Amino acid sequence: MNGPGFATVLKRWYTNNFRDLPWRRTRDPYAIWVSEIMLQQTRVETVIPYYERFLARFPDVAALARACEADVLSAWSGLGYYSRARNLRRAACQIASTGSFPRGYESILALPGIGAYTAAAVASIAFGEPRAAVDGNVLRVLSRIGNDSSDIGSTASKAAFQSQADRLLDRKDPATFNQAMMELGATVCLPRSPLCLLCPVSSFCEGRKQGTANQLPVKLRKAAIDEVKMTVAVVESAGRILMWKRESRGMMAGFWELPEAGLLSALKERRAAGAFTHTIMNRRYRVQVIAGRLGKAPPRFQWIALENISAIPVSTIARKALAKCPS
Ligand code: ADE
Repeated sequence: MNGPGFATVLKRWYTNNFRDLPWRRTRDPYAIWVSEIMLQQTRVETVIPYYERFLARFPDVAALARACEADVLSAWSGLGYYSRARNLRRAACQIASTGSFPRGYESILALPGIGAYTAAAVASIAFGEPRAAVDGNVLRVLSRIGNDSSDIGSTASKAAFQSQADRLLDRKDPATFNQAMMELGATVCLPRSPLCLLCPVSSFCEGRKQGTANQLPVKLRKAAIDEVKMTVAVVESAGRILMWKRESRGMMAGFWELPEAGLLSALKERRAAGAFTHTIMNRRYRVQVIAGRLGKAPPRFQWIALENISAIPVSTIARKALAKCPS
């Protein structure tokens, strides 16, 4: 016989064990929003006094919208990541100008500084909208429940975890479900040593059954970015540009490129034309562009008529450099 499902067991546990946090005593969307923004990247114990002072100073959206940025930053001072405070105030100004707090996930998501997690948290906790709120804690819980070793940093697996959470969600009480998932992640399903013996949903947990909970979630490290500096030259003569063509094998095979300035010792009338960065995979090119003139094409280079450039494969770096020198 089937017993109670995941959401039922989780809710029963949460109801008996939740921490009495100040933002859990309200359904005011403004207060919940402030708490969720503060809780991004900051621990609960640190947030509590800031949250209480902030709400005393700016008790509603209108009060926050009226405040100047310096006052808001001073109330935030010590919490770090100050763009959170600036966005909070900008969003408050938008809300105040429309008259009421936006209802519904999509319109909350459209506010400055609000991502999928925060929009789902506010929509579910304040308005009871059935949206699973998936933050880092919840990703950890989900990866263990499903014994899922996909990389939690990848966009594709985030979408899959979101679907899994939406399937588990208690659609009748999404507010409690979301808070309960966060609470489980924060107090039981801990990053390094999960307290599986105390876990209310261990019987649903594949990671526990397979003995893999400790190794989950998997978060692959991004490869370090290599920085490469280069200077390319845009050399024009009679409506033509000096270029070279890559070999037909290897990286960017067959593409046309601009010359690197270091190869053109005879370049005359040099002038700086701009700079840009271009990132390919884990390599970031910092490109300086210079313009100049040359009497004759050196070996390996050809003059390409400007009107033909759009018809040949030109690398993005060359395209971006050419755009710095409108002819
Ligand atoms: N972390 C993010 N949101 C939270 C919440 N509402 N309660 C506790 N911890 C959280």
